[in-house]
Amino acid sequence: MFNKITVVGAGHVGESCSLLLAQKELAQEVVLLDVVEGMPIGKGLDQVQAGPVLGFDTRVRGTNDWADTAGSELFILTAGVARKPGMSREDLLKTNAGIVKSCAQNIKHYAPDSTVIVVSNPLDVMAYVVMQVTGFPRNRVVGMAGILDTARFRAFLAMELNVSVEDIQALVLGGHGDSMVPLVSYASISGIPLTYFLSREKLEPIIERTRKGGGEIVAYLKTGSAYYAPAAGAVQMAEAIVKDKKRILPCSCYLDGEYGARGIFIGVPCKLGRGGMEGILEVPLTPEEAQALNQSIAAVRSTMDELATLDY
Ligand code: LAC
Repeated sequence: MFNKITVVGAGHVGESCSLLLAQKELAQEVVLLDVVEGMPIGKGLDQVQAGPVLGFDTRVRGTNDWADTAGSELFILTAGVARKPGMSREDLLKTNAGIVKSCAQNIKHYAPDSTVIVVSNPLDVMAYVVMQVTGFPRNRVVGMAGILDTARFRAFLAMELNVSVEDIQALVLGGHGDSMVPLVSYASISGIPLTYFLSREKLEPIIERTRKGGGEIVAYLKTGSAYYAPAAGAVQMAEAIVKDKKRILPCSCYLDGEYGARGIFIGVPCKLGRGGMEGILEVPLTPEEAQALNQSIAAVRSTMDELATLDY
């Protein structure tokens, strides 16, 4: 286990992350940081008091003070505003770029050797901001999106086929937006290709629902976005890093020539272990999938171009 993991932002995603980290005892101490006065301290106490019942000894310490994060080995960065109905993740760009920049400056100052899992939206571009501001190498900045998007795909497939979610393997690549790319060629149920179970016509609405899965939830919640599944995704990444599991998971990684792109974060399969993002797997794609991935890369690039025009 790690000594200290900090969750930045104690909103719904952040508080869910800290409880899951504590339940899994991934660190001796989980620091839950937020700018709202007192709030993370109350949530931290509440979670500590769940420990005797749920059976964990991890101490959750809520705080408003960045100094308490000093020496953290790992950060989960959830700070920022969430979408409201009708908004795209890209609509959050300016506000969240400013918030994420200041968090990244603090991370660099208080924990220069840490690894950062980015969850703030628009995800791929916020991961880029963290890497730029901290100057960390690419193995120590990685974004959580592919696990969430893949989990949605798996959940919808399980509902359609009435099989266990555990037996469904899938990969969703690309940017964390409506242009994401669920890879049918790599989807299987216990190794049996998905195409054995579902025709292309039946698959199409499931793919579409996966792409719009975040927005579907925002439309119901009205005041925010999803948090249970995003937090579960971030903590799965944390677990892979803390336990040096060498898991192969779809994450937003900084590309340096892989998949024909450079200087951009995009969801790709990677290996996660104690070294953070330990390597990108460049898997063959069908021409259709390659084209969809290129379109997704172009979509993230246009948000990055917009970022370059902003003063944040
Ligand atoms: C979602 C948001 C959190 O996909 O990006 O639900």
